[in-house]
Amino acid sequence: MSIPHKPFVLLLLLSLLLLMHLFFSSTPSSPRTTAVATSTAAIRMRPGFRSYDDYIKRQLNKTLDPRLRRLWATRDWDRKVRVFARFFADLAAEGLVSNFSAALCVGARMGQEVAALRSIGVVGAVGMDLAPAPPLVVAGDFHAQPFPDDSFDFEFSNVFDHALYPERFAAEVERTLRPGGVAVLHVAVHRRGDKYSANDLLGGVDGLLGLFKRSDLVRVRKVDGFGLDTEVVLRKKKKNSHK
Ligand SMILES: *[C@@H]1O[C@H](CO)[C@@H](O)[C@H](O)[C@H]1NC(C)=O
Ligand SMILES: *[C@@H]1O[C@H](CO)[C@@H](O)[C@H](O)[C@H]1NC(C)=O
Repeated sequence: MSIPHKPFVLLLLLSLLLLMHLFFSSTPSSPRTTAVATSTAAIRMRPGFRSYDDYIKRQLNKTLDPRLRRLWATRDWDRKVRVFARFFADLAAEGLVSNFSAALCVGARMGQEVAALRSIGVVGAVGMDLAPAPPLVVAGDFHAQPFPDDSFDFEFSNVFDHALYPERFAAEVERTLRPGGVAVLHVAVHRRGDKYSANDLLGGVDGLLGLFKRSDLVRVRKVDGFGLDTEVVLRKKKKNSHK
């Protein structure tokens, strides 16, 4: 091909690409919601949070509600601790958490899951939430955990749906887990979270798995956990592992 035609061919190619882009982006795939990224399109962000501050205010509004806090600390407490303890005992039986694990519960509110871990022997368990709840739960935002890299052997969370930035939630869990450490998430796949949810998983856990780039999937199973129906277990890759 002679040189003078080159710009023309390029132009033609570009127009074609543009047309393809227009065609595919106009297919009816939830055009008014923001997907986190193409590879995580199965996570839909809920509209309505005007800013990060607005989001934090909304989360704190529930977390600090005195009526709810009283309920969580009393009538709710034993039942939740019992149910969490059963989940964790299963994980312990599978060798995924042990007495010697440094364990973190992300978004633990009053800390029932922390109490449950301690009750089965994981004495080093601690919780983290926007509002602290001493002595079990320290203050921290899961978008920027207040812990150094490689701090924990085990992390549990049932508030992934509350993440305004799901990719940051995942990256922070992976950063603070030691290589080989285990992350366990309870999520809602077959039903929607509550009005404080910031994101929804659409049709499965693929969107979530795509965010855990430094981990291998251990398993996914059905559970019945306070409105959350699916347990995802991940293991952070060992350093220099090319799996
Ligand atoms: C939460 O929001 C309601 C109104 O929607 C307000 O009356 C209440 O004071 C807020 N609670 C907290 C703890 O901010
Ligand atoms: C902790 O140790 C006790 C006593 O050996 C054992 O019964 C229990 O199952 C252990 N807990 C975990 C989480 O491994």
